Amino acid sequence: MRFLEKTFSFDDGVTVNRLGYGTMQLPGKGVWGPSLEPQNAVKVITTVLDHGVDFIDTADAYGPLFANLYLKKALQQRPDTKVMIATKVGFTRQGPNKWIPNGRPEYLRQQVELNLFSLGLDHIDLLQLHRIDPTVPLEEQLGVLRDMQKEGKIKHIGLSQVKVEQIKEAQKIVPIVSVQNRYNLIDRTDEDVLNYAEQNHLAFIPWFPLATGKLANDKRLQQIAAKYKVGPAQIALAWLLKRSKVILPIPGTKSVAHALENLKARDIELSDQEFDDLSELKAE
Ligand SMILES: NC(=O)c1ccc[n+]([C@@H]2O[C@H](COP(=O)([O-])OP(=O)(O)OC[C@H]3O[C@@H](n4cnc5c(N)ncnc54)[C@H](OP(=O)(O)O)[C@@H]3O)[C@@H](O)[C@H]2O)c1
Repeated sequence: MRFLEKTFSFDDGVTVNRLGYGTMQLPGKGVWGPSLEPQNAVKVITTVLDHGVDFIDTADAYGPLFANLYLKKALQQRPDTKVMIATKVGFTRQGPNKWIPNGRPEYLRQQVELNLFSLGLDHIDLLQLHRIDPTVPLEEQLGVLRDMQKEGKIKHIGLSQVKVEQIKEAQKIVPIVSVQNRYNLIDRTDEDVLNYAEQNHLAFIPWFPLATGKLANDKRLQQIAAKYKVGPAQIALAWLLKRSKVILPIPGTKSVAHALENLKARDIELSDQEFDDLSELKAE
């Protein structure tokens, strides 16, 4: 039986609970515009904070800015709660579901500043480059983040949706502490990136941990879910928690009830047999 580690340490001073929360579902449809229920959006965040979540993923591009503004309000309502905020820069938005990368250093600098304003923070705990812009030298994209790290505005730097070779290139420019790639029980395309993260103690932050909700309705998870008296979503999260001690899942939801359900995954320790059986599943 593999021992399930509950926390992950980014450095000597920063250790977080591995099951976090992602804000992308909070803005309007297509991650565009405000939530139809802004007060509920804030409540989802205060709820997870009240239940021990201390790692929250967001991005200036979510809304844009609306997710950050809800998060800022929630943090203001919980001034004594210690939480690590991971945000991102590098995407521009043109409308619902439209995303175009821009890695020009002047744009990245502007977006780090906008993240600080919209989150109400004086520094960013973890700043992730949302996408590497293929039209801009990597040295320029990470160089400006390295400068802002020296200025005290960024504590740690991470990457998103990258290949192993790109992580190695980036590590020649600046220390990298995390990678955020698409990964879940039925989409393990980036297994090599996860293995590299594990070998190098980088946090691996899987986006779409529930396959955008598909896994919450996957009948193949029902039997094990019934045994633990939870839903399939929590089994999919428990599988991620067991898969590697560097995985920090950030399930997204705009529902307080779903957020509370998902937190139950922290208490599920799948047997090795259950883990192996689940690992056989493929996308349907
Ligand atoms: N780096 C990147 O490029 C990137 C890309 C995408 C996402 N992300 C990050 O990753 C986070 C997670 O991704 P995601 O939110 O897009 O996808 P996800 O976590 O895989 O799935 C979210 C979907 O699952 C549903 N859901 C969540 N919990 C549920 C439950 N207990 N029962 C039933 N349905 C449930 C949500 O609906 P309800 O709202 O109705 O609960 C929502 O539709 C995002 O919030 C964001 O922070 C990063």
